[in-house]
Amino acid sequence: MLTATMATKLNDQINREFFSAYLYLALSTEAEESNLRGTASWFLAKHGEEMAHAMKMVRYLLDQGASVKLEAIEAPPSKAGAILAMFERTLEHERMVTASINDLVDHALTAKDHATNIFLHWFVTEQIEEEATVNDILGRLRLFGDKGEGLLMIDNELGAAAKVMAQALAQASAAATA
Ligand code: FEO
Repeated sequence: MLTATMATKLNDQINREFFSAYLYLALSTEAEESNLRGTASWFLAKHGEEMAHAMKMVRYLLDQGASVKLEAIEAPPSKAGAILAMFERTLEHERMVTASINDLVDHALTAKDHATNIFLHWFVTEQIEEEATVNDILGRLRLFGDKGEGLLMIDNELGAAAKVMAQALAQASAAATA
């Protein structure tokens, strides 16, 4: 049984996860409009991951007998304008999400809510991986360039990574519904 405060905080996090999905969908469309097909696929795969994060939390609230409250999702910001700015925006956003997950864990520990604490461990680990991945992409963009052949190479890499992400997501989804 969740406390009312914990349920509210998890509902707020669901909203942030849906916003993340919306943000990455916006970045995917911006990338496609700039003919960066691999980057567009990568952000679309991120969109799918964020939808799955939100649904994981929806499932947890329902399993705990708590009420799910879906609020309005904020519009994504205006276009980033360049690939480097897209990934800088992504890293900044993921750092904010990490801080909010940490806040949830702090609250679960203070409330001695062991179930929620354990549930949140998956998200803590996920945030480490997400920040590391985006840091790596930013590093490669700065090293090999965000124009010309360097950009083409990274765009191709992102397209290949998107396929792996989409496959992993499909497998996780199949396992969850099996
Ligand atoms: Fe669901 Fe990227 O945080």
